[in-house]
Amino acid sequence: MPTLAVYPGSFDPLTNGHVDIITRGARIFDRIIVAILINAEKAPLFSMDERLKITREVFKDFPNVEVDTFDGLLVDYVERRRAHVIVRGLRAVSDFEYEFQLANMNRKLAPEVETVFMMTGEDYFYVSSNLVREVASLGGDVTPFVSEAVLARITDRVAERAG
Ligand SMILES: Nc1ncnc2c1ncn2[C@@H]1O[C@H](COP(=O)(O)OP(=O)(O)OP(=O)(O)O)[C@@H](O)[C@H]1O
Ligand SMILES: [Mg+2]
Repeated sequence: MPTLAVYPGSFDPLTNGHVDIITRGARIFDRIIVAILINAEKAPLFSMDERLKITREVFKDFPNVEVDTFDGLLVDYVERRRAHVIVRGLRAVSDFEYEFQLANMNRKLAPEVETVFMMTGEDYFYVSSNLVREVASLGGDVTPFVSEAVLARITDRVAERAG
């Protein structure tokens, strides 16, 4: 049976930390679905359409990476897709407590779904979407943290937001 994994998140924006997890995940699992959570944030930096477009652009040469959106309970989505694995990334001890709770809650809700954690790389442990948004909005250079697809859009987006 092929192993289908779901990597959920808000990806606002997709960072190189996410790209690293997805790239490595694509080597382990037969198929990995990047599942972008709808409505996580009331005022996202990038719309759902843009986040889909960006992620699809970055992974266009990866036949086993799929990009989708989901709403509601993650385990419901995972079961609907007939996947068996949830992929999460771990950056630091600070990620652990929440992820530990989430993994156990999801296991209780759906015992047949396994959460697999992938450790971030030394280049990415401090990279989060939130920090990228903050640095970009203050005029800092986010070139090292995001892909071309994000870079091409983020400066305009941040300027629009500032009014
Ligand atoms: N740099 C990174 N290295 C490894 N895993 C990461 C990295 N950034 C995010 N992740 C993981 O990716 C998943 C999706 O995270 P999410 O979409 O919340 O990204 P985020 O960068 O944490 O965004 P935000 O700062 O808005 O919360 C989570 O499992 C998270 O731990
Ligand atoms: Mg987060």
